Amino acid sequence: MRKEVVLITGANGEMGHGLINHLAQQGRALIVAVDVQPLNDELRPACHRFLQGDILDKMLLGRLVAEYEIRAIYHLASILSTKAEYNPETAHLINVGGTLNLLQLAVEQSQWQGQPVKFMYPSSIATYGIPNLETKYQAGKVHEGQWLSPTTMYGCNKLYCEHLGRYYSTYFRQLAADRSHNLVDFRCIRFPGLISATTIPTGGTSDYASEMVHYAAQGQPYESFVRLDTQLPFMVMPDAVKSLLELENAPRAVLHQLIYNVTSFSVTAQQIQDVVLAEFPGAHITVQPHQARQSIVDSWPMDVDDSAARQDWGWQPSYDFEQAFKDYLIPSIRQHYAAQ
Ligand code: SER
Repeated sequence: MRKEVVLITGANGEMGHGLINHLAQQGRALIVAVDVQPLNDELRPACHRFLQGDILDKMLLGRLVAEYEIRAIYHLASILSTKAEYNPETAHLINVGGTLNLLQLAVEQSQWQGQPVKFMYPSSIATYGIPNLETKYQAGKVHEGQWLSPTTMYGCNKLYCEHLGRYYSTYFRQLAADRSHNLVDFRCIRFPGLISATTIPTGGTSDYASEMVHYAAQGQPYESFVRLDTQLPFMVMPDAVKSLLELENAPRAVLHQLIYNVTSFSVTAQQIQDVVLAEFPGAHITVQPHQARQSIVDSWPMDVDDSAARQDWGWQPSYDFEQAFKDYLIPSIRQHYAAQ
């Protein structure tokens, strides 16, 4: 008999770290993890199996289908917004081609199992694109249906993959007789910028927030690539993981949409710098805006409206701005670097 598992792609990334630890603590399911990079040693005991490989490798995915009964997929692997701009076509292949492969795997598994496989998809604030700063501040909190004209390849990829999820969960096999039970249960969260105490993101454009704190904690100077008046919504990694797990656990009947904004606090780079300097008085932060990266964050909303998530599945972050730094980031980061 095939073992029942949860599949996590991009397992060695920022979100993978938090998610694997939480899922393992809950002990609800065996975890099969995939990443193109080797898995961090400390995550290995939490995983039933780790496969190093590419989500574009259909042989690898085929092996998973043959060996496991996959009840849920957390498809975390992707190339983030700044990195994607250096090679947009490769980013497209990985972000869109990889997601299509995983959705096909979910369809196949749903057919085998005679019930829908849950497909958890982290989308992003990058799906939004606001034409200029004046409009950004006028727009204020943006809800899921507004300003969907992304300006980056990553944003285009995420938005298109949301549509693929909607297609596979709602319309795929419309013409076939066995349609009733083989659709994928697609559930998507659009995340704001994420800040983790244990990992630094690789190649995102909201990374300045994480980098300011991590560089200060290590006593290294930091040059911000955005102006200090730059404002974005953020949340800390434990809240991001909590939102994914809560959405996965929500009964399908309470979910009135497939895609949900979530957020915690909306702050400027100046506000982040102020907290960092208060906690690490010796920190040396300078500002040298990078034109392309600045224009990306300027096109993202200053805040998002997450009232649908709050209403449908009771979303509520555990950390506001003050708690995020005082209760989570500063103590955990100090501990993290002290242990190294
Ligand atoms: N944090 C991501 C990035 O900056 C956005 O989802 O690319």
